[in-house]
Amino acid sequence: ETTPDQPRRRVLLAKPRGYCAGVDRAVETVELALEKYGPPVYVRKEIVHNRHVVETLRERGAIFVEETDEVPEGALVVFSAHGVSPAVHEEARDRGLRTIDATCPLVTKVHQEAKRFARDDYDILLIGHEGHEEVEGTAGEAPEHIQLVDKAEDVDKVVVRDPAKVIWLSQTTLSVDETMERVGQLRERFPELQDPPSDDICYATQNRQVAVKAMAPECDLVLVVGSRNSSNSKRLVEVALQAGARDAHLVDYAHEVDEAWLAGVTTVGVTSGASVPDILVMQLLEWLAERGWADVEEITTANEKIAFALPRELRKDLVR
Ligand code: F3S
Repeated sequence: ETTPDQPRRRVLLAKPRGYCAGVDRAVETVELALEKYGPPVYVRKEIVHNRHVVETLRERGAIFVEETDEVPEGALVVFSAHGVSPAVHEEARDRGLRTIDATCPLVTKVHQEAKRFARDDYDILLIGHEGHEEVEGTAGEAPEHIQLVDKAEDVDKVVVRDPAKVIWLSQTTLSVDETMERVGQLRERFPELQDPPSDDICYATQNRQVAVKAMAPECDLVLVVGSRNSSNSKRLVEVALQAGARDAHLVDYAHEVDEAWLAGVTTVGVTSGASVPDILVMQLLEWLAERGWADVEEITTANEKIAFALPRELRKDLVR
């Protein structure tokens, strides 16, 4: 219903968006475990932070628990993509549980760094969000060496034993810019602060932020598909706003979009977090098309080709 004096309504669709290699692997792990061993398959915490994924797996026989002590002795439990601390592995062993570890290999990499620098007796400043499962898992590798730095005010609270032996590590799903800001603040206090051996913020988090940044300046509204507890999805909303989008919101489903957000909007940007199946994005595009935003242009800033092998414990039982 566009008239000549109305600007052309359009959608910019970010690419890359949605599933990363770690999420893909974790979700497939639960699906294959259900197929191979039959339900129930227990999963400690949400396998990935997405409501739709969790609900779909639950319907197929997955039982989500908070802690391993809720899993019956001898049963099968999958550890989520966010990783677990050594204490959780130990508890599972003590209870005789069969475990499959679906921790993303890029989270495991940060665990290895934490262990290595703790062994070398560094003070490790872990930049991350307090209470996030990934941070709990990583910090659990070396609780006596690791201090969490979340907000700017945490920087002043850090206490180190030797300012020449301090390193920062981070959660994999943070805002790149905000993290560098925090590092700058830490470095003001500790000029000899060392950088991690390689990026801890993963390729998927970085690529999704680059893509949303590229389109945000042209957008009156950016819609990010993702769940409230998904760190990388929430960061996409913040990055969109910082990069110049007039407005931005996080929604789990198309029906959660408030039509009032569309008032006066010409260009809508769409993206999704690393734990979001693309079907949810397609449903949002349909919803927008029904309201006059049918013209979709994909904005590609990277092509991702990364895939991870399934967890070893599962692979050995799969004859393919
Ligand atoms: Fe792994 Fe990054 Fe995805 S750490 S689970 S690849 S968001």
